[in-house]
Amino acid sequence: MSAFSRFTPLVQSLPATVPFVGPEAIERQRGRQIAARIGANESGFGPADSVLLAIQRAAGETWKYADPENYDLRHALAAHLGASPAHIAVGEGIDGLLGQIVRLVVEQGTPVVTSLGGYPTFNYHVAGHGGRLVTVPFVDDREDLDGLLAAVRREAAPLVYFANPDNPMGSWWPAERVIEFAAALPETTLLILDEAYCETAPLEALPSIESLIDRPNVIRTRTFSKAYGLAGARVGYALTTPGTAQAFDKIRNHFGMNRIGVAAAIAALSDQQYLKDVTQRIAASRDRIAGIARDSGLLPLSSATNFVAVDCGRDAVYARAVVDRLMSDHGVFVRMPGVSPLNRCIRISTGPDAEMELLGAALPAVLRSLTGG
Ligand SMILES: Cc1ncc(COP(=O)(O)O)c(C=O)c1O
Repeated sequence: MSAFSRFTPLVQSLPATVPFVGPEAIERQRGRQIAARIGANESGFGPADSVLLAIQRAAGETWKYADPENYDLRHALAAHLGASPAHIAVGEGIDGLLGQIVRLVVEQGTPVVTSLGGYPTFNYHVAGHGGRLVTVPFVDDREDLDGLLAAVRREAAPLVYFANPDNPMGSWWPAERVIEFAAALPETTLLILDEAYCETAPLEALPSIESLIDRPNVIRTRTFSKAYGLAGARVGYALTTPGTAQAFDKIRNHFGMNRIGVAAAIAALSDQQYLKDVTQRIAASRDRIAGIARDSGLLPLSSATNFVAVDCGRDAVYARAVVDRLMSDHGVFVRMPGVSPLNRCIRISTGPDAEMELLGAALPAVLRSLTGG
């Protein structure tokens, strides 16, 4: 294939990949519709009715760009979190913010520390900016805070990424350990504390806002994609000191926010009753997935997120076969971790009863077909 010859050497060296093959691409590849979309950690419960109304109202205004200062959303977030708007930067989902943070810190060859098997989109951005990933294995299916700290010190790394709760295993560290970890980092190392799943996590997993808000080298990232049910709206935010938050203004796409998405996020924040209800439904669905897994002789790992990692008890080849057969034979879309030993597991997102029924029927059938039982 011929391509323009004057792309940068970095771009020329990169593979043309995306971190995740999307469910729509999987449908096209398999020539089969997805019946249960429980693989991408979206929320099949959807957003609140009040949010859908706000989206309808905003639709007629979509000829207007969104406010480039994101004034209303930042003020609504500040009121919700007990911070000031200056502490908040808004972006196109956490994924967009991760790209911006990497751009702020990473140059060619910069060492960047993360967990082996941690969130792949972060790695994608690091590679895209020429950084050198330094990975630390999970220990007992949890991110290894001591290992991450040791790697930061050894490499004098200016950037470290840690998700709490984490994807893909759904595990979490208590707030005190997270705060200790942040305090132990050199001031010249920026911590991305990715809290994509904060709404579904136990309170003990979440450092208070005050505990980290004065640290210029800590950015907490959060999203409306998970519990709020707005993955397609692409709204996320970063919480940090006003000085660090301002750095985003130097590089961000000022008209990058989707006006309808911003309206949806503001409405979602003001419907905390829905959030309360939906997080209960997510927790019940986690229990249901765990029960379905156990009934099939598999081991569900405990989870603080909107998904459950299920240990299939064998190797990655077997787990891959389970994932493939769920999709090809039953239209049940799930995913699995990318590296050993995490990839003995499959990862199933929570969802409404209809999806859980399909999973409950498909999983035992797939296991029987694979083991000849
Ligand atoms: C740990 C983690 N961070 C970020 C994201 C993406 O969030 P957003 O939709 O806001 O880009 C995900 C989604 O799966 C995730 O698991």
